[in-house]
Amino acid sequence: MEEKRCAVVTGGNKGIGFEICRQLALNNIQVILTARNESRGIEAVKKLNGLGLPIPNVIFHQLDIQDPTSMPHLVQFIKTHFKKLDILALLEQLVDENGDILPGVSEQTYEMVEECLKTNYYGTKRVTEALVPLLQLSKSPRIVNITSVSGLLSHIPNDKFKEELDDIDNLTEERIDEMIQLFLRDSKADKLRENGWPLAPASAYTVSKVFLNAYTRLMAKKFQNKILVNCVHPGLVKTDMSLNSGVHVSEGAKGPVMAALLPDDGPSGVYFDQTQIASFK
Ligand SMILES: NC(=O)c1ccc[n+]([C@@H]2O[C@H](COP(=O)([O-])OP(=O)(O)OC[C@H]3O[C@@H](n4cnc5c(N)ncnc54)[C@H](OP(=O)(O)O)[C@@H]3O)[C@@H](O)[C@H]2O)c1
Repeated sequence: MEEKRCAVVTGGNKGIGFEICRQLALNNIQVILTARNESRGIEAVKKLNGLGLPIPNVIFHQLDIQDPTSMPHLVQFIKTHFKKLDILALLEQLVDENGDILPGVSEQTYEMVEECLKTNYYGTKRVTEALVPLLQLSKSPRIVNITSVSGLLSHIPNDKFKEELDDIDNLTEERIDEMIQLFLRDSKADKLRENGWPLAPASAYTVSKVFLNAYTRLMAKKFQNKILVNCVHPGLVKTDMSLNSGVHVSEGAKGPVMAALLPDDGPSGVYFDQTQIASFK
């Protein structure tokens, strides 16, 4: 009998993450729905089970991608119960501790800018680094980073940064860290326009997704022929983040789920605009 595949979905308690959990479970994947808030996560699993999914297909484990102390618990949980990991789908969003969208979209303070990079870029990176060893034990490992059309390189006015971020053969994680520091410095000093960064109100979100895309490509190169690593823009999807405009989540989850279930000869290091491969520019 074929072994059941196991997926971790971050930010699985609502929105697109919740729907990715539902669709993966319907594909007979064992889903570990993670959420930073335990009660919101448990509620989400109850809701999925109420939708008639086979009950053992979705289980909850707490994970705050910003909190390094929550990672070892998840790693140990997967080792104990499943021994390896097949799919990692990473979603996050700049929200406050009550789950409300921060006014970062309309008024962006320096603290919010920092917070956004810490969650969207460094949080994703931390989870990836912690779970790669378990993914390497899978026969068909996949990493899916949920990005945005905002993360296309065309949103970076500075041509030098744009070229560097597109030059995957020479780009390094250290150089991305340096660019993040430059961006933070310019945000603080009100020099975003002068130094060719995207402007507020959504500059931090935009650069976090640009850097996430570059990191996706670096990881695809690093794990070439070992792990398929891709990023997906889900489209404009009706969730709290989009203030409930856009397509239904069942549509928005299609691209990420497709990337999670790619065949072994599928692409790696690409950007999907929903279900279609598109340019990073
Ligand atoms: N909706 C769209 O139109 C759209 C378009 C392009 C890209 N996206 C991308 O799609 C992804 C999901 O967005 P969505 O629309 O589904 O938004 P959403 O409904 O607001 O969900 C965001 C999820 O991220 C979780 N999260 C936030 N900070 C976290 C942390 N530190 N650790 C773990 N989880 C955390 C939230 O948990 P809490 O409930 O605890 O806050 C929530 O589950 C995001 O990466 C977003 O950038 C969405």
